[in-house]
Amino acid sequence: MTPDPASVPVPAAVDWWRDAVFYQVYIRSFADGDGDGVGDLAGIRSRLRYLAELGVDALWITPFYPSPMADHGYDVADPRDVEPVFGDLAEFDALLEEAHGLGLRMTIDLVPNHSSHLREWFQEALAAPPGSPARARYVFRDGRGPGGGEPPNNWPSVFGGPAWTRVPGGQWYLHLFAAEQPDLDFTNREVLADLETTLRFWLARGVDGFRIDVAHGMAKPEGLPDMVAAEDTGLFDDHGPGDLRFDQDGVHDVHRRIRRVLEQHPGTMAVGELWVHDDDRLARYVRADELHLAFNFQLLLADWDAEELRTAVDHSLATVAGTPAPACWVLSNHDRPRHVTRYGGGASGTRRARAAVLLQLALPGVAYLYNGDELGMPDVELPDEVLQDPIWERSGHTERGRDSCRIPVPWSGTAAAYGFSTSPDTWLPMPAGWGALTAEAQAADAGSMLSLYRTALRLRATSPAFGGGAMHWLPAPDGCLAFRRPGGLVCLLNVSPAPVPMPEGHVLLASDDVCGGVLPPDAAVWLHA
Ligand code: NOJ
Repeated sequence: MTPDPASVPVPAAVDWWRDAVFYQVYIRSFADGDGDGVGDLAGIRSRLRYLAELGVDALWITPFYPSPMADHGYDVADPRDVEPVFGDLAEFDALLEEAHGLGLRMTIDLVPNHSSHLREWFQEALAAPPGSPARARYVFRDGRGPGGGEPPNNWPSVFGGPAWTRVPGGQWYLHLFAAEQPDLDFTNREVLADLETTLRFWLARGVDGFRIDVAHGMAKPEGLPDMVAAEDTGLFDDHGPGDLRFDQDGVHDVHRRIRRVLEQHPGTMAVGELWVHDDDRLARYVRADELHLAFNFQLLLADWDAEELRTAVDHSLATVAGTPAPACWVLSNHDRPRHVTRYGGGASGTRRARAAVLLQLALPGVAYLYNGDELGMPDVELPDEVLQDPIWERSGHTERGRDSCRIPVPWSGTAAAYGFSTSPDTWLPMPAGWGALTAEAQAADAGSMLSLYRTALRLRATSPAFGGGAMHWLPAPDGCLAFRRPGGLVCLLNVSPAPVPMPEGHVLLASDDVCGGVLPPDAAVWLHA
C-alpha cells in the first residue's frame, strides 16, 4: 500500500540531496491558482499532493520574484520579495510549510549574475555619473571608436545582438543576456554582500537550497578583452574555450562565499547551472568548498544514439569522479527542446522518452525532472504572434526561442486550459487534442507515462537494487547500453532498431512489453540480478 504522503516527515539527513529526485516547477506553466492564465505559488500549493504521490523528493521553483518579465522572471527587480502575479510572501511561506509537511524539500532559483533593469540599483546607476559608486555595482564602461560610439568590446549577448547597451550620457553597460538584464559586478563588495543577504533571507524562511542561475558567469576577465570566438558562439551553446564571458577563475570565489553561508544552515544545498563542457573545468565547481551539485547537461544534449548516450554518461561520471559531488542527470528543462521532441516526437519520441527515464533514474546520483516530463509533454510549435521569449526579438526573428518547451501543464479535461487555469486564455496557448495527455487521464491508465514515472520513482526509493553510488558497464549488444549498480540493479537500454535478448534477472520494470525475454527497440528494462 502506498503510504499517505501527509504522514511522511522530511528525512533528517543533511546530505538528503545526494540521490534525490528533484522536480523543476517552471512557475508560469505549472498550475494557475488565481485564473489569470499564468501559473503561481497558489497553483503549486494546490498540486503538492500530486507531486508527493509522484514520488519526487524535492522541488526547484523557477524565479517568482518581482520582475518586469523581460526574461520571464530571470530579470529580478527585487530578490527578496514575491512578484504579485505569483503571490506574496505569506503564500510562499504557506507553500513551503505544506511542502515540508508532505515530505518535499523546496529549493528556489537564485539569479546572481544580473538584475532587472528596473531594480532600484540599476535605476540609481542610470541617474548617477560615470565612476560613481552606483555605477560600480554594474559593468559600465566607456565605448570605443570616435566619441565612444562603439561597444567596449565585441562580446555578443547569449540572446543575440551585442552584449552592450549605451545609456544617455555615453557610457555602455554589459548584459550577457537581454538589455533588461544588466550584469552585476562581483568584484564590488556591496554586490557580494547583497547576495549573502538574499541567501540568508530565504534560508531564514526555511528553504532547503538553491539552483544558481548562470553559475559560471559571475566573474569577468580583467580589462574585458575581445573574444576570439565571438562569431562562433551560438545561442545557449556550451561556452567553450575562447568564450571570455563565462567560466573565469574568479567565479569560484563567489561560490566559496555562497557555500560558507550554506554551511551555516546544515541540510541546505546548491546546484549550479553550468554550461561548461570540459570535464575538468566543470569539476572545479563541485570542489568541497563550492557547489554541492552541478547540472550535467550532456544527457540533455545527446541524441538518441547509443554511443552519444554512453559518452554523455561517461563524461558526467568522469566529471564528478575526483570530487565529493554525485552526478546530476537532466533530460529536459525550460531552456531546451523537450526530450520527447528531441527524440523524434510522436509515438516514437514518446517510446524513447519512456526508455530514457529508466536510464536517467537508474544512473547513480541526482535526477532533475522538468514539469511535464512525467506526462510525456512534447514541444509545441507556436505561431510567430504568440512568441514571448526575448531570443525571438533579439535574434532578429531568426531564433524562435524557448516558448515551445514552456507550454502550461495539462491537468484534466479535454479542452484548453485542461485544468491548468480557469481561464482558457493561458500565457502561452495550449493546443487542442491534449485530453489524453492530462495527469487525470494518465493516472487512470496503468500503461501511461505518468504511471511509469510513479512506479520507477517508487522502485528507486524503495528497492535495495538501487543501493550504492556507483555503476559499471556490462557487455551489451550493438546499439545497446547495459550497466549494473552495486545493489544488483541491471539497466539495459536498446537504442538499436532490432529486439535484443535480456540478461538474466527478475524484471522490476520495463518501458515496453518484454514478454518472451526480449527487449524491443527504443525500450529499457530494469532487472534485479
Ligand atoms: C538560465 C535560465 O535557465 C534561462 O531561462 C535564463 O534566460 C538565463 N539563465 C538568464 O538568466
